[in-house]
Amino acid sequence: MKEIGLGLLGFGTVGAGVVRGLQANGELMASRLGVKLVLRRIADLDLESDRGVTVDPGVLTTDAKAVIDDPAVDVVIELVGGTGVAKEFVLRALEQGKPVVTANKALLADFGAEIFDLAREKKTDIYFGASVGGGIPIIRALREGLSANRIESIHGILNGTCNYILTEMERAGVPFDECLADAQAKGYAEAEPSLDIDGFDTAHKAVILASLAYGGTVPMDAVFVEGIRGLSDLDIGYARDLGYRVKLLAVIRANEGAVEIRVHPSLVPLDSMLASVSGVFNAVLVNGDMTGDTLYYGRGAGADPTASTVLGDVVDVVRSLESGSAHRIAAIPESGDEIRIRPMPEITTRYYLRLCLKDEPGVLSTITSVLGKHQISLASALQKDEPEENHVPVVFMTHAAAEAEMDAALKEIAALDCVGAEPVRLRIEG
Ligand code: HSE
Repeated sequence: MKEIGLGLLGFGTVGAGVVRGLQANGELMASRLGVKLVLRRIADLDLESDRGVTVDPGVLTTDAKAVIDDPAVDVVIELVGGTGVAKEFVLRALEQGKPVVTANKALLADFGAEIFDLAREKKTDIYFGASVGGGIPIIRALREGLSANRIESIHGILNGTCNYILTEMERAGVPFDECLADAQAKGYAEAEPSLDIDGFDTAHKAVILASLAYGGTVPMDAVFVEGIRGLSDLDIGYARDLGYRVKLLAVIRANEGAVEIRVHPSLVPLDSMLASVSGVFNAVLVNGDMTGDTLYYGRGAGADPTASTVLGDVVDVVRSLESGSAHRIAAIPESGDEIRIRPMPEITTRYYLRLCLKDEPGVLSTITSVLGKHQISLASALQKDEPEENHVPVVFMTHAAAEAEMDAALKEIAALDCVGAEPVRLRIEG
């Protein structure tokens, strides 16, 4: 049987999953492909750690460039991560016309335009299925299965660490810091968790999904990002009482000739599909003009699920090599029209507000008059709990209002004498 040589850059958790997957299912893949996949070289700076898989020591090297340049390596798998040497490695492989499979969302979010342009110029492929959603083939669904649709919206729970923390905050009614420590102890959250909990990992993934849905490359600074670090278990509990669950969502939506891309904690109705996604799981809800809603759910991280998507990409790349049809599917479609990114102040959404108000006559009317002046209409107001030091939490649910008006109203409200702690504003989806 014909052989195709693979070169693996990065022998960490997912790299070890790729090796394990090839060892366990390599024959099955070969029977499906008619070509045998042979892992010829593996590069990593650490050749000592036990990865729980056995490899021929002769394939290991610390020299990634030697792997890329090796004529016996036909396909390069980049699992180094980050935007430093990984970029250099990916460009070096593409420059030689070698197809690249990567899981590196940060690299594509920051340097996608340069990388995709080079792949196009060299008429080779860059596959990045594992960059969003781990084991969920959402990239493939957008690139292929949904390609006849205009994408109306995408709502994604794209970070397992955040979803685990939010699930535990609600389940156990405990504060954020305690849940983060628990997620770190269980190995879900990094020791330096900022990329996950401050929303940037989700934003990287949102940029990739938006680029696929609308064509062209979307810059990271087009994304409004708010993470879950400041979230109080009080709001998670109040939201629950009102029939909502709090999720860190990527919201990508096209309307009136502009696309909004935002990442922030959102209230979703308890009976919605996204509300039922708990723990470390991910889900992406895509609304196409022909399909309506389609939902993709699964493990968004972890060695084996992510390696499954990496190897699925390798299989596709090899099919293209075999049929002589590399660059069969553009990495990112050209955008038909100029995409306008809607600035955050221009978006319209419904809001949950929690204000800490003096428990005195006339206070509510002061607040509602500020909201009314800014064209913000209330759907409900609920005074929660007993006053503490003469202040009481009052939760307001609004009808759809403009973000710029809400910004202005909250600024005025925060400055009022009757208002205690800083107002809390969460956005409502669905
Ligand atoms: N750290 C991510 C998560 C997985 O917690 O989902 C890698 O993108």
